[in-house]
Amino acid sequence: MQHISSTLAVPDSTYVPRHVAIIMDGNGRWATQRHLPRVAGHSRGLDAVRAVVEASAARGVQFLTLFAFSSENWRRPADEVSFLMRLFMTALRREVVKMHANSIRLRVVGDLGRFSPRIQQLIKDAEARTAGNTGMTVTIAANYGGRWDLLQAMRKMLARSPMLDPESIDESVLAPHLAMSYAPEPDLFIRTGGEQRISNFLLWQLAYSELYFTDVFWPDFDAAELDKAFASYRQRERRFGRTSAQLVAPGLSGTA
Ligand code: FPP
Repeated sequence: MQHISSTLAVPDSTYVPRHVAIIMDGNGRWATQRHLPRVAGHSRGLDAVRAVVEASAARGVQFLTLFAFSSENWRRPADEVSFLMRLFMTALRREVVKMHANSIRLRVVGDLGRFSPRIQQLIKDAEARTAGNTGMTVTIAANYGGRWDLLQAMRKMLARSPMLDPESIDESVLAPHLAMSYAPEPDLFIRTGGEQRISNFLLWQLAYSELYFTDVFWPDFDAAELDKAFASYRQRERRFGRTSAQLVAPGLSGTA
């Protein structure tokens, strides 16, 4: 399905964001504050993932995208990286059973070739198992980077049409090759842990997303915190380039 591009047309604004994308930050600091090893924060982070998946589905979110591991996270100490890989495997084995029971579809986006064959197989199995589910779609961004995504999309676009006339390249030619072309652009972006950065997440798709930053560390982010983010979202005036006056008289609105 082709979704509306926020730069080409004005998408509908809905009471509950259709697509929520989250950078889950602050696991390490949560643990350090408690004199625990950093990895204890990641384990609690997985508990928070479970809570936020449940709460999002209950509130009618259609797409939930979680930044689990960035292209740059390989730079972390080797034992932390291998712990995160094991946690990812546990999640793919255990959580997927629960997601499937709740009609949730799981997808994983990113440069997956760098993961072990075992993890790649678990990803394929989890995606295949939940492919027919019609509830919320949970996307895990793993070894993902926004620049990687744009580059792989450009490569795919040119591989398909090597003689492409540069003048003919517009959004509708490139966008279908992006890793998350199956989802509308995020309505709401959340980053926990106090930093106010996009950190190479969905660079193309965040063009008109509402941005919400909270100091709460990811392991402490729960349904109540999600509701605070949604309340903030509802107060935003989503103009997509239009003026406030045009929002009052929608008949006058055009594309911008
Ligand atoms: C950022 O916190 C978090 C990560 C790099 C890993 C995220 C992983 C999880 C939430 C658990 C597993 C989730 C899935 C979906 C399998 P940080 O370590 O950068 O925190 P810090 O900034 O306080 O150091």
